[in-house]
Amino acid sequence: SGAVPFYGAHQAGIVTPAQDRLHFVAFDVITKDRDRLVTMLQDWTAAAARMTAGQDAGAIGAVNGIPEAPPDDTGEALDLPPAGLTLTIGFGPTLFRDATGADRFGIAAKRPAALVDLPKFPADALQPAISGGDLCVQACANDPQVAVHAIRNLARIGMGVVSVRWSQLGFGRTSSTSRDQVTPRNLFGFKDGTANLKAEDTALLDEHLWVAKGDGPSWMDGGSYLVTRKIRMTIETWDRTSLAEQEEIVGRAKGSGAPLGHQNEFDELDFTVKGPTGEPAIADVAHVKLAHHSRNGGARLLRRGYNFVDGSDGLGRLNAGLFFISFQRDAHKQFVPIQLQLARHDVLNEYIRHVGSALFACPPGVPDAGDYWGRGLF
Ligand code: HEM
Repeated sequence: SGAVPFYGAHQAGIVTPAQDRLHFVAFDVITKDRDRLVTMLQDWTAAAARMTAGQDAGAIGAVNGIPEAPPDDTGEALDLPPAGLTLTIGFGPTLFRDATGADRFGIAAKRPAALVDLPKFPADALQPAISGGDLCVQACANDPQVAVHAIRNLARIGMGVVSVRWSQLGFGRTSSTSRDQVTPRNLFGFKDGTANLKAEDTALLDEHLWVAKGDGPSWMDGGSYLVTRKIRMTIETWDRTSLAEQEEIVGRAKGSGAPLGHQNEFDELDFTVKGPTGEPAIADVAHVKLAHHSRNGGARLLRRGYNFVDGSDGLGRLNAGLFFISFQRDAHKQFVPIQLQLARHDVLNEYIRHVGSALFACPPGVPDAGDYWGRGLF
């Protein structure tokens, strides 16, 4: 499959129609040398432009260099097409001030007010080892080997400057970000991504997705904030729940994806529609009602998550779930109120557990080869 343009006003991998596969990585910066960090970001940008075009990470390539030197590409994507690869970078709060409060790179004054840690939510069971990070790169592609190759080569280029803090593979998209896409399903078997912000909703994207001039420091204008939540799903318990109860918890029909009491998947939610017993067809505690913008001060998200199964848990269960990703103009005004509402009232909580969390500021796109990821910061 084809190449997604790397250069542009916004980073690719946000409104790009969600690809099938994910490899997401969070890095810790392990040097205090600002120049080395900047050089790495320049090298990363050049490699990202090449790899998203289906080329080797380095200009010489996997097999054309001198035999005495390690190749500047690891080789496992030779012969593979670009596969719709996108690479999206984000900067975490700890890049600006680390855990000790130190401003390692002289950029603390440029930290946006919106880039402060998410609050603790009720029932959070977050593991620090799979949360946070100074930098992140989201690699999405329609071939898992292409996504993994890209992350691996960025980690290789960053050796001595960054180390991998955590990473996550996603094997299937759980979202549509374009009206041309069929809605996929999550591991609870429900269509996921129906009522999502989509690439075609340009006015809504300006309102809810892209950071606008005046929101904060200008280096983020045209960027977006990225939230990840690794959500473990106890699918064994869910699988013993009746179909009717599953549909009531979500608020949509499992087969068609239509809101309960409605006809079609894309019908607008109408919470006044009554069910057969005279009660509202969509319960007050249904996930789609709790998460709806009318219940959250108008807040909307662009969801772009992936299903994962990380083997089994040693207790006879699959270690499965949803690697939730959302992009928004300000996570504290959008993700936070929605997640607070869900954490307090969602019946889905009996079947899920949030185990990882991170927030990153994704700068605007790189306009051309003369520019690099994060230039506005340094
Ligand atoms: C909608 C599943 C976690 C926010 C939906 C839908 C499903 C679903 C099946 C209906 C289809 C759709 O409109 O996309 C899940 C599952 C979760 C999860 C299984 C956890 C494992 C979250 C979280 C958030 C969230 C953590 C944000 C804090 C939303 C929003 C909608 C939605 C905003 C659209 C509501 C509307 O306007 O109709 N989710 N979700 N979800 N979800 Fe989730």
